[in-house]
Amino acid sequence: MDTFLRFLKIRRSIRSFNNKQIPAKKLESLVDAARFAATARNLQPWEFVVVTDKQVLKRLAGIAENGRFIAEAAACIAVFSADTKYFLEDGSAATCNILLAATALGIGSCWVAGDKKPYCGEVSRLLNAPRELKLISMVALGYPDAKNVFKMMPKRELKEILHWEKF
Ligand SMILES: Cc1cc2nc3c(=O)[nH]c(=O)nc-3n(C[C@H](O)[C@H](O)[C@H](O)COP(=O)(O)O)c2cc1C
Repeated sequence: MDTFLRFLKIRRSIRSFNNKQIPAKKLESLVDAARFAATARNLQPWEFVVVTDKQVLKRLAGIAENGRFIAEAAACIAVFSADTKYFLEDGSAATCNILLAATALGIGSCWVAGDKKPYCGEVSRLLNAPRELKLISMVALGYPDAKNVFKMMPKRELKEILHWEKF
C-alpha cells in the first residue's frame, strides 16, 4: 500500500507514553507539516505553541478533564486560530496534519479538545496567547508506551458509509 495511505490507516490516538523526549527538530517538523493544511481563502489563521516544560504539561493536564495524560506526554502542541469565518475547519485541518506527521515520524499523538471547552480561556492565559485567538486543540505527543501498540478503535466499514452518486 502507498506509504501515505498506510499512515492514514495506522494512525490512532495514543494516550500512554514512555519517557523518551522528542527532539526539537521533530517537533518543529510537525508544525511545519501543519502549515501546509488546506485553509479557507488561504488565510492560514493558525498559531502553534509547542510545550515541552513538564510543569506546564502538568498544568495543561490538570485543566483538560479528558487530557490528563498530557502530564505524561513529552510535548503538547496547542493549536490556536484567529477568529475567522472558518477558524474551526482551518484549525482542525492543521491539527490533522500534526497527527499524521507524528504518525509518519513514529511519534504517538492524541487530539485533546480545545474549542467549545470551558477551559479555553485558562489554557490561553497559561500559554500567554493573545486574547483574540481561539483554542482549537491540544495535541499530546510522545513515543508510545509498548502496551499501546496493538490498540485500534473500530472503524465504520467503507460499504456502510460510501454512497456512490446519491444516498
Ligand atoms: C474534536 C476532537 C476532540 C477530541 N478530544 C479528545 C479529548 O479531549 N481527549 C481524548 O482522549 N481524545 C480526544 N479525541 C480523540 C478521539 O477520542 C479519537 O480520535 C477517537 O476515539 C477515535 O480513535 P482514534 O483516534 O484512535 O482513531 C478527540 C478527537 C477529536 C476529533
